[in-house]
Amino acid sequence: MDVAAFEAAAHATTDAVAWAYLAGGAGDEVTVADNVDAWRRWRLRPRVLRDVSAISTATTILGAPVATPVLVAPSAMHGLFHRDGELATAEGAARANAVYVLSQVATTSLEDVAAAVPDGARWMQLYVQADRGMTRAVCERAAAAGYGALVVTVDSPVVTRRTRDIDRSSFGVPPSMALPNLAPGVEAPDLFAIVEGYDPALTFDDLADISGWAGGLPVLVKGVVRADDATACVDAGATGVVVSNHGGRQLDTCVATADALVEVVDAVGARAEVLVDGGIRRGVDVLKALALGARAVLVGRPVIWGLAVAGADGVHDVLAGLTEELRTAMGLAGCTDAAAVPRDLVGPPR
Ligand SMILES: Cc1cc2nc3c(=O)[nH]c(=O)nc-3n(C[C@H](O)[C@H](O)[C@H](O)COP(=O)(O)O)c2cc1C
Repeated sequence: MDVAAFEAAAHATTDAVAWAYLAGGAGDEVTVADNVDAWRRWRLRPRVLRDVSAISTATTILGAPVATPVLVAPSAMHGLFHRDGELATAEGAARANAVYVLSQVATTSLEDVAAAVPDGARWMQLYVQADRGMTRAVCERAAAAGYGALVVTVDSPVVTRRTRDIDRSSFGVPPSMALPNLAPGVEAPDLFAIVEGYDPALTFDDLADISGWAGGLPVLVKGVVRADDATACVDAGATGVVVSNHGGRQLDTCVATADALVEVVDAVGARAEVLVDGGIRRGVDVLKALALGARAVLVGRPVIWGLAVAGADGVHDVLAGLTEELRTAMGLAGCTDAAAVPRDLVGPPR
């Protein structure tokens, strides 16, 4: 099944409230749709007669070798979508040789997930809370559990309004679930206040502390769509940035990530790692992201579609399927090395 087939199958089997939470975005969901459309607007300029008998999707991220540039984006509460929650995601990602970025809003402890993911293939996402002691504690736990990087999400300083959740389905954290990496010991319904309780006072100056709390782990800042912000993040010590608008879930009509990627790569690509997420649904999208200067991509909703349909097998199939599509697209575009996709492989967007 390709990603679109997983989406249809997941929609058919997922509870309506959980589906609204998964599929929805902020406001009129303009950015949710535009993220997907933006990759499609860019056109490939394939090369011919380049001997593509040996194609490698392998690359390096943060200096470490990886088999595929397709990563699992951090997404909350996998327990909503499969009884094994993040443990199923971890197993599927590991079988697909994909790096798993665990959400701080996971329904499984980061230590349990760490035991299910190989070394070098797990990173920890976090939100910085006003109570810095809570943030420091999770940084220390992530370092102790062998996570290789921290992904600090910065696009959510105030609570957004997701129309589908609020008006149509009244989403909340189900009473049966705990969030052991965000608020250990706190139970629903008090949890929701914490889920939405990120520190609005956060600035670039806070980034250095975060890495220090995790024993110097590399920090990637997630949710950057501008050259000046990317520059300020790297100046403040970030190892890289993730060009992201949270899958259109925070600020509606935010620029699509495929379009924002270029200015961020131009600004910091020479001295920092640039990753991108939002709307990646096909191997050709991954190829375009690499050509535009991203080192890797993260995939959000499609992984959860796979999880909802078939647990670890579904997660594996979505990730391995995207990597296989990438391999085919590379061959057809005259490109054998995912770590060296030329910029001129894509033409200007339509
Ligand atoms: C259901 C859901 C939950 C998410 N939870 C988080 C989260 O906890 N932390 C975070 O940084 N991003 C979160 N995201 C955003 C993803 O990391 C990613 O930026 C986005 O899903 C990429 O877009 P895509 O879904 O089109 O691939 C979430 C996305 C979804 C769909």
